[in-house]
Amino acid sequence: MAKNIIPHTYQVALNDRIKTNGHKSLLLWFTGLSGSGKSTIANVVEQKLFQNDIKTYTLDGDNIRKGINKDLGFSPEDRTENIRRIAEVSKLMIDAGLVVLGAFVSPYKKDRENIKSIVKDVNFVEIFINTSVEECERRDVKGLYKKARAGEIKNMTGISAPYEAPENPDIEIKTENESIEAAAQRVVDFITPKLSELQ
Ligand code: ADX
Repeated sequence: MAKNIIPHTYQVALNDRIKTNGHKSLLLWFTGLSGSGKSTIANVVEQKLFQNDIKTYTLDGDNIRKGINKDLGFSPEDRTENIRRIAEVSKLMIDAGLVVLGAFVSPYKKDRENIKSIVKDVNFVEIFINTSVEECERRDVKGLYKKARAGEIKNMTGISAPYEAPENPDIEIKTENESIEAAAQRVVDFITPKLSELQ
């Protein structure tokens, strides 16, 4: 498909954007079960970064699955395509100089590995929001676990579809033992030195 596509070289490059912004770009990837607290923590991290004049944007189910990926469901193949497209969008945003926050269940290890190969390893920070399925089901903020137990939702991660936990995440957050504020601060402290590293 891409055979006759010859890239054009633009004169405003990533390094120019990094200089203007005063920081490097990165992808902070929050993975974990539905209801684990990914979006809640990402939201606080983004506010902290924004207050420090870091250029950010958050990708999550609301702006992705209702738009660019509205044709995709929750089969393993659709989830793989969901994550691939999000990784490609993140790659563009990284090139635009942003710190991108992505909050997606992303249950398959191979799909998360693929993100790394799309955006480059050095730009990828994996944050595992490790909340037990029992706790997610107890919270059941969106009522999805109840529906899954009743058989109304198929392929529900943690109930009728697998979640392959990261073995070696950059950051692991156990929301049952740590406050949202402390967890978000830990993420900010981890990435702050990376934001000034050379690309
Ligand atoms: S992913 O697996 O492809 O990464 P994604 O993060 O985009 O999933 O979407 C997950 C969100 O969709 C959940 O937080 C939940 O609100 C909703 N959802 C609806 N059906 C399912 C399902 N079968 N499994 C997991 N989440 C679901």
